Amino acid sequence: MRIDKMLANLGYGSRKEVKQILKAGTVKINDNVVKDAKQHVNLDSDVVTLNGEVLEYRQFIYLMMNKPPGVISATEDTKDETVIDLLDMADAVYEPFPVGRLDKDTEGLLLITNDGQLAHRLLSPKKHVPKMYFAQIDGEVTAEDVEAFKHGVTLDDGYLTKPGELTILKSGIRSEIELTITEGKFHQVKRMFQAVGKKVVYLKRMTMGPLQLDEELELGEYRDLTEEELEQLLNYQP
Ligand code: URA
Repeated sequence: MRIDKMLANLGYGSRKEVKQILKAGTVKINDNVVKDAKQHVNLDSDVVTLNGEVLEYRQFIYLMMNKPPGVISATEDTKDETVIDLLDMADAVYEPFPVGRLDKDTEGLLLITNDGQLAHRLLSPKKHVPKMYFAQIDGEVTAEDVEAFKHGVTLDDGYLTKPGELTILKSGIRSEIELTITEGKFHQVKRMFQAVGKKVVYLKRMTMGPLQLDEELELGEYRDLTEEELEQLLNYQP
């Protein structure tokens, strides 16, 4: 990668501003001052410093967020706060995006990355990546609902869903359930319950493929994936 691109990506200014920084002679690659904006940096082996401080550049960034309600799973929005707005500048410079969408009022596990290939693999309808949700439901969830979800239910637009694995944790006028689905249709969990005459009043995603929500994360908090989580995710074959 060119040194000017690396510095610009790290947030040190536009390509033009970065040229000025380079001209000042404050940037070194492996102890050699570099003034040429076109100079190539080997991200695997070169050590780049600015005023003597080593610059860390990662090609890819992988973050797990516990999405809070009230924010949008998008990179930009004209009226609402987005999950990207919640990131520190040091992470946002990598231009990550959320992998898939959770509704504005849904909480829980959201993977945020700039690895487009991984995102594509996880979101591809052909891959059937399982996602598990915890939900509170207005009304009594029954064994018939479990059976209906096992065969798939017909949504309001006539679409017959793939089977969903429904587990009743608590049944009553306010039931609690876990539901695993392998698709990601718009409002899918809410619409599956609507199909059996019930309403989701609280929804939280707990897992996505091999990733599990870290319950230590407060709503709105995020962290880098651990090496183990990342390895599992990159090697994941649904
Ligand atoms: N299903 C929904 O209805 N909403 C979500 O946010 C995710 C799955």
